[in-house]
This record gives sequence, C-alpha cells and structure tokens, in this order.
Amino acid sequence: MYRTHTCGELRIEHQNQTVTLSGWVQKVRNLGAMTFIDLRDRYGITQLVIEEQSDSSVREIAAQLGREYVIQATGTVIPRAAKNTKIPTGEIEVALTQLQILNRSELPPFTIEEHSDGGDDLRMKYRFLDLRRKPLQEAMQLRHRMAHEVRNYLDEHGFLEIETPYLIKSTPEGARDFVVPSRMNPGEFYALPQSPQTFKQLLMVSGFDRYFQIVRCFRDEDLRADRQPEFTQIDCEMSFVEREDVLQVFEGLAKRLFQRILGLQFEHSFPRITWQEAMAKYGSDKPDIRFGMTFNDLTSAVQGKGFGVFDSAEYVGAICVEGCAGYTRKQLDELTEFVKRPQVGAKGMVYVRCEANGGYKSSVDKFYTPEDLSSWASLCGAKEGDLLLLLSGARMKTLTALNELRLELGNRLGLRPHDTFAPLWVVDFPLLEWDEETQRFYAMHHPFTSPCLEDLELFDTDPGKVRANAYDFVVNGVEVGGGSIRIFDAQLQQKMFKVLGFTAEDAQKQFGFLMNAFRYGAPPHGGLAFGMDRWCALFGGADSIRDYIAFPKNNAGRDMMADSPSSISEAQLQELSLKTMPSDKSDK
Ligand code: AMO
Repeated sequence: MYRTHTCGELRIEHQNQTVTLSGWVQKVRNLGAMTFIDLRDRYGITQLVIEEQSDSSVREIAAQLGREYVIQATGTVIPRAAKNTKIPTGEIEVALTQLQILNRSELPPFTIEEHSDGGDDLRMKYRFLDLRRKPLQEAMQLRHRMAHEVRNYLDEHGFLEIETPYLIKSTPEGARDFVVPSRMNPGEFYALPQSPQTFKQLLMVSGFDRYFQIVRCFRDEDLRADRQPEFTQIDCEMSFVEREDVLQVFEGLAKRLFQRILGLQFEHSFPRITWQEAMAKYGSDKPDIRFGMTFNDLTSAVQGKGFGVFDSAEYVGAICVEGCAGYTRKQLDELTEFVKRPQVGAKGMVYVRCEANGGYKSSVDKFYTPEDLSSWASLCGAKEGDLLLLLSGARMKTLTALNELRLELGNRLGLRPHDTFAPLWVVDFPLLEWDEETQRFYAMHHPFTSPCLEDLELFDTDPGKVRANAYDFVVNGVEVGGGSIRIFDAQLQQKMFKVLGFTAEDAQKQFGFLMNAFRYGAPPHGGLAFGMDRWCALFGGADSIRDYIAFPKNNAGRDMMADSPSSISEAQLQELSLKTMPSDKSDK
C-alpha cells in the first residue's frame, strides 16, 4: 500500500497513529539536528520530520532528497511544537521511521509553490508542473464541481446528455472554422464545430425534447483573456418552449451554481434589460451592473452654444463620477489619454467639476455659462463634489468609448470587486447587423435565430430594426451565456437566408441537411449555451479563463508545452492530398 492517508488529511485526532504518506517533496529544510520535509499531494501539505535519533537509513535518504522527488514516508503522527495555522494539517507532523524514494526529479524550472517564481511562458511550457500548484489544483477542482452540479441539475430537469460529432460541416457562429483534411476524400475537409448548434436542432426534430452536452467548441478567432480557440460550452436545447421557459430553466441553473459553488443565494429574479437600453445606459451589450455611473444623453442640452465639437456631434453623453470633483489636472489628463487610445477611440474628453461651494469648473467654460453647466449636472443627477465626464461623436462609437471610460473608472474606484456578482439577462437583440465593408447584413447570433414575431413586417421594409428572440446571460460585464428561440418554419428560414444574402443554392449547400430535416415536422424549439470556462473564471475570481483549462493555448493560439501547431511530414501531406505554401513565421 503506497499510502494510508493523503497529505491533506491528518489532524491532531490522529496523534500516535502510524501512517504512510506518498507525494512530492515541496521543500526540505535541514536544520542540522532535525530535517523537515513539506510533502505535497493534491489534497494538501503535511510536514514530515526526521529527528536526530531517527534511523540512520532514514537520515541518509533524507539527505539525498531534492525538490519534486516522489517519496513514500512512514511514521508516527505527533503534535507540532510550532503550529502552522495557515494549513489544515498545521497542528501535526509525522516523525519518520521509514523513507523511500519512489522517483527522482530534475530540478524543476520554477518553484512549485502557491506563488511561483516562474514567468507565464515558462509555466505554460511546463504546464504539467504548474498544474501541481495549489491555485491550479483548486481551479481544476472548481471546474469539476461545476460540471457535476450542471449534470445533476439538468438531469433533475429531464435533460438527456447526448454527444454530437466533432468532424462536421461548418457551423454558422460567425468565427472562422478550424478545418481537418479528409484522407479518404481527397481535397475535402471537415470543419470542427464552433458549437453543436445544427446538431442540437436536429435532435429536437428527432424528439429529444431536452438535450444538453458539456462540449468542446472550436473557433479560429483573435484571442483575449476570455477567449480560447477551444473552449467548453454547457450546450442545451428544448422543444415546445417559449423564451420564458428557457430563461426560467437556466436562471435556475445559474442560481444553483451560485448557491452550491459559492454559497450565494439569489432570492429574486435576475434583472432583464433590452439591448437598446443596455447600449443607451452602458454602451455595452454585456453591462457590468455592479455599479451605477450610467450614461446621460446630453446631446440637445449642450448644442447651440457655439462649441463646434458638440454642435456637430450626433451624440453627446456624460457620466457622473460621484465624489470625484477633486480629481487633479494630472488625473484628468490621464483619463483624456485613456479615451484617446485607439482601442477606445474618442477624440477628447470634457469635464465639469461640481464644486463644494455650488460652483462649476469645466474645460469648456468659454462656451457655457454656470447655468448651462448646472442644467447638465441636474440632468445627470450630479451633486456637489461630483465630476461629470462628457464624450461626443457618432452615437455608437461614443457609447462604446463611454463604456470603456466607465469600466476604467469602475476599476480605479474599486467598484468592481471579484466577490460581488451582478447577473442579468440582456434581451431583444437586433436580429441583423449591417456591415459597411461588405454592404450586407449578418446574423447577430446565427441564421436560425427567430425574429420577434411582432417585428415580422419590418423584414421587408427595415430589416435592421427587426428584433431577435435572443438573450444573453451576463455577469459582471462578462457574457457567460447566450441563446435564442429558433426559426422552425421553413418559409421564415428562407426569408432569413435571403436577407442574409444567401442564394437558395448557397443555403441548400451549407445548411441543406437542417432544412431537409425541418421538412419532417420540426417542433418549436429554443436553447442556450453557457460558456463553462468563463463561469469558472468568474467563480474563481480570475480575469483569464486560461487557469481553468488544464492545457490551454497562449495568446498566439500555441500549445507551448507540446509546441503545436507544427508542420507535418511530406508523406502525411501527400496522403492528405495537400500542398503547403511558404509562410512567414515571424509572427509566431
Ligand atoms: P455563443 O456564440 O454566444 O452561442 O456562445 C455561447 C457562450 O460560449 C462562450 N464563448 C467562449 N468562451 C471561451 N472562448 C471563446 N472563444 C468563446 N466563444 C463563446 C460565451 C458565450 O456566451 N450556439 C450558440 C448558443 C445557442 O444559440 O444556443 C452559441 O454558440 O460565454
């Protein structure tokens, strides 16, 4: 038997028991007369002690130990002289009578402790070692518990877990596909699923009225902290449902996760806001509602006083930053620089200080009287001591820039704590998005999303105004889920394809299998997918989803450990009927 207990298990109640532990040597401290070893496994750390009177063979083996050696140790549980209140096993130590090296380790490239000295790249390269560290061990445990709770909840609610294929035909989620060449069909390719969207709809046609799957999805898109090229969805679909039914089931799942994983109880329904309102108040379709600072439209209030920048703007918006009238020139300059960054895109920023004496000081005093500024302040609900910040320009662009400014101020003012959660549903998205470059509409979600039926007549007159029966679930400014009620009527689907610029042949070629199935009695249906990795990061209080994926890719989409992607042999290329073109690898 390699072990009688784990390294996280022993307490003072085990005093005087003879135990055997196995694990990794985190640290050896040789104090001359005594040697202490921190022995680690997935469950915790236990201190082993070798005393002066210990068997000489034990002392000899201890002298050989290095970091990350795998050992088996037997001894007696004794109370510790100096207790360590930081770890659960901190009241005891094990006085060794036997010690065996099970495997040696080379010196690891970084310290494998709670806080490592290794840089990001090095830790990615040796991910299998990084995963031994407590924060990552905890992250994997959190992920496991999440998956377990999800399965229990959905099973209780009658959902069947059904797997769908990975080698498929392209799915329309809007990113690029990863493709896989087919050896048996030269010149032809499978696509890896961006989501199981079409398959889950087919399963509805097959009568599995409640489906789910914890499933890997693949998207070739630019990566960010909350995006990986392969990520996991909790993917669900239901038949004979309206939007309300879907929202109820998944609000229930969200509440269950909050409760079981974090011990947080949400008594009330989560707020719902329309996409229009989200954009007008927060400039984002994934608003962080942990704090206020919502936008005020001052366009008509500020125009006509000779300030050209505002007069020519389509939109002028302001946020009221409470208690910040005392911001220094330097702080205001910093914020101006911030909004001028290309990623934010504003041309400049106007401020108004609502001073303690009831006066106003602004960067546009030349154009506006104190009465003007006072009227802006009251439109924004500002009081003495508050600071107004205004941005102007094209409406959408300015709303988005104000969103960045709001979030930046939220960060600076500590209004976005990791342990506060503010979930909400965003509903009534536009069905279509106009793309200036290609001069055509794109589906904002995917082409199977049903329009709101009351907007159907706008399809022919003003398609950009048609609302989708779609919803996103947002927590703390992160989109953690999204879905929609689907089109199940063949004629409406054809209409949608037409607006999206698909010819009948294109639609048939790309989605013929689904259209075909819909001819055989498709039930009304709808669903949703939660982003599993994002949920984990949210619950773990992390900004990046990377730590919740055992083997993630870096920002360039590379697996640093396995050094992938990599080239393949000429023979393999030939077998697949492929030829590669010379490429510039400088951006690797
Ligand atoms: P959507 O594209 O909104 O919907 O994806 C659902 C959720 O998946 C997460 N997500 C990601 N997480 C990590 N890395 C990525 N690259 C990534 N992309 C998306 C987000 C998102 O909310 N088939 C539809 C769902 C449906 O309509 O039922 C779909 O895939 O949290």
